[in-house]
Amino acid sequence: MGLRGDNKEEKAGGERLKLLEGRRILLGITGGIAVYKAVLLLRELRKLGAQVRVLMTPFSTQFVGGLTFETLSGNKVFVDWSKDPLAHINLARWAEVFLIAPCTVNTLSKIALGMGDNLLTTTVLAYKGPLLLAPAANTVMYKNPAVQENLKKLRERGTVVIEPEFGLLACEEEGEGKLAGEGRIVDWILWSLHPKPLEGKKVLITCGATREYIDPVRFISNDSSGEMGFSLARTARWLGAEVKVIAGFTTAEEPPEVEVIRVVSTEDMLKETLKAFEEADIVVMNAAVADFRPKIRSDRKIKKGKALTLELEKNPDILEELGRRKRGQFLVGFALESENLLQNAREKLRRKNLDLIVANPVDVMGSSHHRGYLVREDSVEDFEFESKLESALHIMNRIAELHLKR
Ligand code: CTP
Repeated sequence: MGLRGDNKEEKAGGERLKLLEGRRILLGITGGIAVYKAVLLLRELRKLGAQVRVLMTPFSTQFVGGLTFETLSGNKVFVDWSKDPLAHINLARWAEVFLIAPCTVNTLSKIALGMGDNLLTTTVLAYKGPLLLAPAANTVMYKNPAVQENLKKLRERGTVVIEPEFGLLACEEEGEGKLAGEGRIVDWILWSLHPKPLEGKKVLITCGATREYIDPVRFISNDSSGEMGFSLARTARWLGAEVKVIAGFTTAEEPPEVEVIRVVSTEDMLKETLKAFEEADIVVMNAAVADFRPKIRSDRKIKKGKALTLELEKNPDILEELGRRKRGQFLVGFALESENLLQNAREKLRRKNLDLIVANPVDVMGSSHHRGYLVREDSVEDFEFESKLESALHIMNRIAELHLKR
């Protein structure tokens, strides 16, 4: 995931993006060995700026004591009604999001049935907002038909079930049942907190660098990380879109819950993009495409020799082709320019028949700040944020507004 460990979404100086600043998250914890992972999750939520209240089932406190959660959340931990006879009502009213992680199959089944046999399940009954369940269980227990039926029922009611992952489980079996990673859980929280202007819309995003091979081991390419394209995909999902990404080579982490199709060359990217283009409502061409390819690709590794002259031929311009085929799709391009930024961006907007072009000065490369312009035929808006993720959210929000206004 992208929110932890790789510093990619941290501001300069190591300070994290406060993506959840002030948001009120109720963290429910139920009794299974994965409770220890809830400690790290709570830490992550706090680092992202969230206010967190913790609600534990009595059994879960046998795995990790309430004092750990109390210390990390800065709030008293609720297990029963001893601290407040109206705790279920007050907690339910307070929360903007109610996440239960880990959620045992026992608790999710009780929730599906509408039972309120402890403070946690009773609070679920009193709560009206977005409910997110992150189950963790032994594979056989998770796949049990009764449990699966209950999960189906919950999904039909709009509860988000954050599917467990495949891996080595505490019972020493390999299978599906591992608590979802922190990155996925945090992404679902962000999803649940955003309005959904792109509900029902299909968004197609290209990103990363295409590669043109000279021989089996050498290629022409560029060092695009794919971070902006992946950030656009994450934020488009937060806004309710069904997202598909066509990615060349990338070093940034893939966005969770998004379909990513991998390609190598510009020609491959063109083929995959055209396949998905017809169905898309919004297309964002963020890939750093190799403009040229070797005229001849050697099947064998080229020997050193004294000198080497490569003849290159032009690759197709994917975006220009999309501009020609456009039938109502909202088409967005990117332009990275070292001079005459707005003039060049506008020229590309017209030549490629775009609805919007995002123009970035070259100094954004490798910078912790991100700035640029949203250029349309009749307007220019500037933007500046401390990270690509924040810029991506701004760009997707503007795309949603402009697309819906048409
Ligand atoms: N693009 C594309 N296919 C290409 C080259 C570029 O689809 N073969 C897309 C990029 O993904 C970007 C936009 O076109 O969204 C502008 O790319 P850029 O490299 O800035 O422009 P070019 O048209 O290649 O012009 P130049 O390199 O001369 O500035």
